[in-house]
Amino acid sequence: MSKKEQVILEEPEVKKAEDVEKKAGTLEVFIMGKSYKVPAGLTIMKALEYAGYRYIRGCGCRAGFCGACSTIYRLEDEQKLGFDLACQKVVEDKMYLVQLPFVPAAKAEYDIEKIRPSESKILEYYPEIARCVSCNTCSKSCPQDIEVMKYIQRAIRGDIEKCAEISFDCIQCGLCAMRCPADIKHYHVSQLARRLRGKYIDTRSKNLSKRIKEIENRKYDSEIEKMIKMNKQEIKELYKNRKIEAEEGGS
Ligand code: SF4
Ligand code: SF4
Ligand code: FES
Repeated sequence: MSKKEQVILEEPEVKKAEDVEKKAGTLEVFIMGKSYKVPAGLTIMKALEYAGYRYIRGCGCRAGFCGACSTIYRLEDEQKLGFDLACQKVVEDKMYLVQLPFVPAAKAEYDIEKIRPSESKILEYYPEIARCVSCNTCSKSCPQDIEVMKYIQRAIRGDIEKCAEISFDCIQCGLCAMRCPADIKHYHVSQLARRLRGKYIDTRSKNLSKRIKEIENRKYDSEIEKMIKMNKQEIKELYKNRKIEAEEGGS
């Protein structure tokens, strides 16, 4: 990886704090130690961009789904760090900001085609889960409000199904792993559980089987053809007015 590729934020070319209009409703934030005034109500991500920085990494969906923008911050006169998603957390006055590109926790190597679910399978690949001290810091860090400690406990007990179920909404942001005193990589652990569950334990996905049959019977071909001919605005309207599928019990 070249030095340039490692940079996650490009510095603004000619942007100084004094350039930024001073008006009511603005807050002072510090980006890499430099002071900027930004409008109140912006997320950390938007505040960084307002100040003139450009995201090269550490940014994806901008909507709290992809988990790419995990970040840390500190407030004035507070020694402890705050952890959150940059696209979701709203800036506060005197917030000190940096941006982390991703959480590069090592992932165990396995071939999902070759391994099989068993009570000790997760422990075999992630033995550190046995070190959990039940502090619950991981659950408190999770922007998805997942009971992270609970799924780790299930993994320790070999309950792959429950571990997968509890962690279903994980967006792999890594905020839990950043704070765990036992050095557990929660999101890799639960990903293994979900993969094992999906492949070997609960393969009865009714909706998926139904949709595959529909696709095989070319049910959506004419609709897709129609969409290909639409312009951007028509696509946007279509998306806005789409019917949200009702849950049908299958996963
Ligand atoms: S932060 Fe780590 S040690 Fe604490 S409960 Fe979560 S997994 Fe266990
Ligand atoms: S479980 Fe961990 S990695 Fe997954 S969303 Fe919660 S904090 Fe992020
Ligand atoms: S950019 Fe995707 S969660 Fe923030």
